[in-house]
Amino acid sequence: MFNVKNLSYQYPKSKGNTIDGIDFEIKEGEIFGFLGPSGAGKSTTQKVLIKLLPNYQGEIEYKGKSLASYHDEFYEDIGVSFEMPISFSKLTAMENLAFFKKLYKNTVDVEPLLKRVGLWEDRNKKAGEYSKGMKIRLNFVRALINNPKMLFLDEPTNGLDPVNARIMKDMVLEFKQQGGTVFLTSHIMSDIEQLCDRVAFIVDGKLKEIDSPRNLKLKYGKRSVKIEYKEAGNLISKEFSMEEIKQPEFCQLLQSKEVETIHSGETTLEEIFIKVTGVGLNG
Ligand SMILES: Nc1ncnc2c1ncn2[C@@H]1O[C@H](COP(=O)(O)OP(=O)(O)OP(=O)(O)O)[C@@H](O)[C@H]1O
Ligand SMILES: [Mg+2]
Repeated sequence: MFNVKNLSYQYPKSKGNTIDGIDFEIKEGEIFGFLGPSGAGKSTTQKVLIKLLPNYQGEIEYKGKSLASYHDEFYEDIGVSFEMPISFSKLTAMENLAFFKKLYKNTVDVEPLLKRVGLWEDRNKKAGEYSKGMKIRLNFVRALINNPKMLFLDEPTNGLDPVNARIMKDMVLEFKQQGGTVFLTSHIMSDIEQLCDRVAFIVDGKLKEIDSPRNLKLKYGKRSVKIEYKEAGNLISKEFSMEEIKQPEFCQLLQSKEVETIHSGETTLEEIFIKVTGVGLNG
């Protein structure tokens, strides 16, 4: 869907590059996650990809053609939800959506979407009187209003309660199942695990890793199994490498001891994030 080569971007008034020579592709039909510390350049990358920041360096191809060669037709294809939800505060949710509908050739019926995100009852309330989570949900509905082929979601579940976050994640997965492609940023590692086929880590405008969460776990995790068992009233903990579990000692231990817990050495995305971004827990 997107092919990005040696992309750099410098804000007009800033000194250096905010994005500094990054390469990645977003495959059609995948959910591609962009992770990294605050200020790393995630939202800037999203803004470049949606043509809001045109003066970039490097090459960006969308569906095999230079992004720069697209005009209004590009916006028919995509749906965007920004980091900060935007709506007209004096207009109701319905009036807001009606306004945005007029910008597109093809649009969808908002009733099922508003019902799904739990805003139907409040559809005639002014957006300015919406709570933070309600504004985020309205923003998400707006991103879907033109039946897009690709969604850009900048921290979509940030500020949502667990039930609403789950509804939104289900909707994102359904969007993918129907053939949609998603670019998503989030600081919530469980969201990334549940949603993303591949993730990229960006630090100071540079890409440090791109792979599936599973491959990253294999790469950064320990290939080992830890067993805790009781022996003469004492709790004993032993770690076996994947090679060692093929040895008789491991099976004998399982059969003869009172095993209390077995853990694999698989790491979490949170630990990978800390390792890859090099951000210490106390600075
Ligand atoms: N309009 C702007 N003008 C100048 N610099 C900007 C502008 N917007 C962002 N920046 C700078 O670019 C860098 C990257 O910002 P960006 O918003 O892309 O980070 P992010 O990775 O999305 O962070 P967060 O996780 O906090 O949302 C930061 O140093 C920020 O100060
Ligand atoms: Mg951001």
